[in-house]
Order: sequence, then structure tokens, then C-alpha cells
Amino acid sequence: MIAAVVAVDENFAIGHQGGMLTSIRGDLKMFRELTSGHAVIMGRKTFDALPNGALPNRRNIVISSRAKGGFVPVSDHRGEYVLSSMEKTKELLENSGDETLFVIGGGVIYSELLPYCQRVYLTKIHKAFDVADTYFPRIDRMKEWHEIRCGEIQEENELKYQFCIYERQINNSFWDQSWNEIDQERIIQYANQLDMKKDCIIEGLLSNDAQLVCDAGCGCGAYTLKLCSFGFSVSAFDVAAGAIDIAEKLLEKAGYAAELKTASVTDTGYDDDCFDAVVSRDVIDHICKRDAMLAIHELYRIVRPGGVLLITLDHLDEEYEKEPHRINQDGDYLFSDGKWKGMCFHSYDLQEIKALIPDGAAYEVIDSDGILLKIIKQ
Ligand SMILES: NC(=O)c1ccc[n+]([C@@H]2O[C@H](COP(=O)([O-])OP(=O)(O)OC[C@H]3O[C@@H](n4cnc5c(N)ncnc54)[C@H](OP(=O)(O)O)[C@@H]3O)[C@@H](O)[C@H]2O)c1
Repeated sequence: MIAAVVAVDENFAIGHQGGMLTSIRGDLKMFRELTSGHAVIMGRKTFDALPNGALPNRRNIVISSRAKGGFVPVSDHRGEYVLSSMEKTKELLENSGDETLFVIGGGVIYSELLPYCQRVYLTKIHKAFDVADTYFPRIDRMKEWHEIRCGEIQEENELKYQFCIYERQINNSFWDQSWNEIDQERIIQYANQLDMKKDCIIEGLLSNDAQLVCDAGCGCGAYTLKLCSFGFSVSAFDVAAGAIDIAEKLLEKAGYAAELKTASVTDTGYDDDCFDAVVSRDVIDHICKRDAMLAIHELYRIVRPGGVLLITLDHLDEEYEKEPHRINQDGDYLFSDGKWKGMCFHSYDLQEIKALIPDGAAYEVIDSDGILLKIIKQ
């Protein structure tokens, strides 16, 4: 995961004349605990302003034109660090896999690297400083960024502050638009014609004695309905409110009830260990690979020990190749035009599937028409 860490004032100001706006001991402690043991990425000016040189117990990566397009290890009176060009840093971020990397400023670097971040640890300082010349992007006004947590307000030297977390949510606009534009009646008719026979997901749930099942990314609720028809007690969510609207109507018409809500697959809002099983059909492969990693960990969190995650993944086919797209360094297909404009798809090989599995989990891959990935929580 790539995360930015920043302290902002009420106007999202972060610095003045090369220095910080203020120093809060509680914030510095949080920063040290969060980033220790990981790589920290910063601009040359932020590095130059560190009072004791390179930050200890962290891989210091300093972006500078002095790196001349490369990656240059340095050991001098400021400690050990790596000078890196912006291009090399972006390559590093695009290929970070499971590694956690922190972008720690300053203004230029935050702006340039925010598109690579999935999370922002943001310390809100409850004050508007009179003078400032460097700012953090206004993620509080950006549609894709959502505040998912905010801690209690704390106070130090008459300065109030609180720790908040923002996450970039994925694909919302594509899915929102798709579900809002869809002909609801046609979808309901389609769902009514669905094959309600036992399939390998239902078999997986029955063989695992599942009762409480979550349908993660349920779309219009057609599969939620099928789960209900097999007698499971079902909760379901989708990132698009329009999809949940259709799902509610569909279930009501069929005389079934399920707990439905709007939520993101990377932040479901459910308690730990609360389901016997989580089913996620055609979701994990329809978000970018980095988001898929976060999503799998989130779904694993909400399933109980001994419970099962059943995830379907599509193979790449002609249709994916045909629609206009570009492929990024992670191998994500980013559709730039046509009917899937704004959508992301990732086709997983066995090696990549292995990288998705949470530590210590048992898993099985059943590859027939598409891939069924079965992960058992230990
Ligand atoms: N509140 C907070 O949480 C926080 C955190 C960090 C920093 N800050 C504040 O932010 C301010 C510093 O931010 P800043 O925007 O002035 O500077 P900065 O982002 O720290 O560093 C800018 C430098 O990074 C290098 N750089 C930037 N883009 C590059 C590119 N595309 N290619 C190669 N090198 C590139 C350049 O170094 P070269 O000149 O060597 O080429 C450039 O001068 C300070 O006031 C600091 O206190 C606040």
C-alpha cells in the first residue's frame, strides 16, 4: 500500500519558508510509529529541512533532479539515503506489490504522487495559520477521496488536532453511472430468468456449513436473491447506490429479505469475523490490482476463523482486448473510451493470485470457465 502522511491546518496549509507550520509532539510520535520499518519518500527540500538528517529505521528515498534519472545511494554526514528521480520513484510505486511505502512531503511531492496513494494519514490541526506558502491537495473536496475515520480531538500547547484517515475509493463514478443509467425493469426481468440451480459457490458454502453470508459487491442483487433462495442469511453491499436500489426492489418482488447497504469493498464497515462466508463475484478483477489487495484483506477481516471467501475472477477475453484501453505497469487494463470508459480490469495468473492471499490463509484455485478462488481463514 502507498500512503501519504501529512499534517494540515484548516486551509490545508503544510509549510512556510521551508519549515513546518508548527511541531506537535503527539503528531511526531504517531508519524514515527506509523512509518518505522518502512520506506519514506520525500522531496529534496523536505529532506534538507530534517533536523537530524535521514530518518532512522526507515529507508529514506529523496527525490531530486540531482539523481539524474537514476537511483543513487548516498552515505554522508546526514546518514544513509537514496537520491531518486521522479521517474524512478514512480516506477518503484507502481511495482511496490505488498510493500507499504509512505509519501511524506512536501508540497510538490504530495501533488505529484497523490495519484499513486490509496490512503492519506492526515493530522487535522484546528487552526488557520496566518502565513503559509505550501499546501496539501484539497482531498476533502475531491470526489474519489473519503474520510473513513477520524480520532478524538487532542490538545497540546493549546493547539487542538486529530488523526484522520482518508481513502481513495475506486471506480465509483463508473459503477454509479452504469447503475444509474440502466433500465431497472430490464435488469429485474433478467434476474428473474437466472439459473437458480446449485453451482460451485453454493456447494462451497454448503460444504463449509455457512449460514451468515455476505455478498460483497452484489450489483443488482441477482446472486443475493439466489443465496436467499438456498436459505442463507444474507447481507449484501455494493459501491453504487443505484445498484442497491435495484437489489431492494428485486428481493422485495421475489419475497426475500437481505441486509443491503452501500459500501466499498475496501472499507465495508462490518465488524471483524462477523460472517461465515463472503462471496464476491466479478468484483476483485474489476478493480485495480492494488485496490484488490486492500479489498481481499478487508473481506478476510470480516469472515470468521474457519470461514471461507469465495471469489470469482474472469479470464482475459476478446471483449476486454477489443475495448479501447491502456495497460499500466501493474498489468491493469484501464478503459479509456467506449462502453467501459473509466473501468479497470485485471486478469490474474496463479503467481499474482498467490500474492493476493493474506498471510497464513489456506487457499485453492478452481480454474474452469473462469477462476474460483477459495480462501479459508485460519
Ligand atoms: N505538514 C507536513 O506534514 C509537511 C510534511 C513535509 C513537508 N512539509 C513542508 O513542505 C515544504 C517543502 O515542500 P516543497 O514543495 O517546497 O518541497 P519538496 O516537495 O519537499 O521538495 C521539492 C524538491 O523535490 C525535487 N523534485 C520535485 N519534483 C521533482 C521532479 N519532477 N523531478 C526531480 N526532482 C523533483 C526537487 O529537488 P531538487 O531541487 O534537488 O531537484 C525539488 O526542489 C516545507 O515547508 C516543509 O516544512 C510539511
